[in-house]
Amino acid sequence: MSLNTPNRDSFTNKFGIIAAAAGSAIGLGNIWRFPYVLGESGGGAFLLIYILFVIIIGVPVMISELLIGRKAQLSVFGAFRKLAPSQHWNLVGVMGVGAAFLILAFYSVVAGWTLQYVYLSLTNSLAGSTPNELIAVFERVQANKGLSAFWTILFLGGTAFIVRAGIEKGIEKYTKILMPLLFLIILVLIIRSLTLDGASAGLKFLFNPDFSKLTSDVILEALGQAFFSLSIGMGVIVTYGSYIKKSESLGGTALSVSLADTIIAVLAGIAIFPAAFAFGMAPDQGPGLVFITLPNIFNKMVGGYVFGLLFFILLTIAALTSSISLLEVVVAYFTEELNLLRSRATWIATAVIGILAIICAFSSNVFNIFDKVSSNILLPLGGLLIVIFVGWVMGSKKPREEIEADGRKAHYYNGFLFIIKFVAPIAITLVFLKGLGWI
Ligand code: PHE
Repeated sequence: MSLNTPNRDSFTNKFGIIAAAAGSAIGLGNIWRFPYVLGESGGGAFLLIYILFVIIIGVPVMISELLIGRKAQLSVFGAFRKLAPSQHWNLVGVMGVGAAFLILAFYSVVAGWTLQYVYLSLTNSLAGSTPNELIAVFERVQANKGLSAFWTILFLGGTAFIVRAGIEKGIEKYTKILMPLLFLIILVLIIRSLTLDGASAGLKFLFNPDFSKLTSDVILEALGQAFFSLSIGMGVIVTYGSYIKKSESLGGTALSVSLADTIIAVLAGIAIFPAAFAFGMAPDQGPGLVFITLPNIFNKMVGGYVFGLLFFILLTIAALTSSISLLEVVVAYFTEELNLLRSRATWIATAVIGILAIICAFSSNVFNIFDKVSSNILLPLGGLLIVIFVGWVMGSKKPREEIEADGRKAHYYNGFLFIIKFVAPIAITLVFLKGLGWI
């Protein structure tokens, strides 16, 4: 029997909620951002520290968000209003809304590039290009700001349309089929990438940690990337928690989503770096890395036209299931806190984000600032407040009750509590202050 409030939808089965949360988590963060940040951060050592952060910070923050959502049966603002002793905790929700604005703005630009690559693949414009020509193609895409702005707005408009109509669940139905397909294409890409001459240098770059590269800056980047990729620290996952049945395991859900997310990111790295090295491209290309490297692989494989086209279409869809969850945070805020109608809330939010997105399309400085401020500052700070809330403010009984509401004893509970009370808050604070140069 479900103990959820009767009028709140809940996902009918375990796969439903995992697919939906994974839809938010898996996106450009895994395939575009992870490889490029890793490439700029020196490779293997970044990977190790990234995985460490996912385990000791990411999973506990995700469990905390899920349990807040399921306990309150509300999205992030209502949840803190219901569970928190003082309204100051609203700050988590407000910071989340701020982060959603910034992230959606630059995210839409990258999704706009992805759409342009769908078009370029469709018209077969990338076929036969040399590695240098492909670099030039990306530079042209980036330089043509008007066109970039056009595709950016197209993507954002699509996101708004889906959120306004409230048909995310419909989209999520397809993602259950489409995301495994994206996974399969990445596997095919990996096979081709690894069989290129000179591929092993890329594997070495990815898996041979050079610890001299681990500066405090790189460590902060890894933390920010973990938060960004898992969609945590801003309340997105709180909302998903409110839809999970009491009979489901929160720990199991957090673990499955984090595992799927990390596997996709690592696989994207295994597809990209061997090819980048084989084609003589620098791993620290920056934001163009995936767009420059992958078409080289498509050009060197049987059926490259179909694979390339399908890949960029699926990447757009992966981006869409993430952008929907971002816009949903803002719309929930506008409807729940400011009492706006859903359609009005959607269009106002989209108009403001659209202006910010156009600014990002025109200025790579603003793009970078939005990216860094949200991933490296707002999300870790949100995560810090969330674990402090669950660890120190909710009391030790309530979180346990919620986690064990599925009727099974959570043997990991004491470990979890120790992490959210001490390990995660201290780690986030240290990485944060050091990365910003404050200590
Ligand atoms: N996790 C998403 C991705 O990797 C981006 C995202 C961040 C979505 C924060 C929601 C909240 O593409």
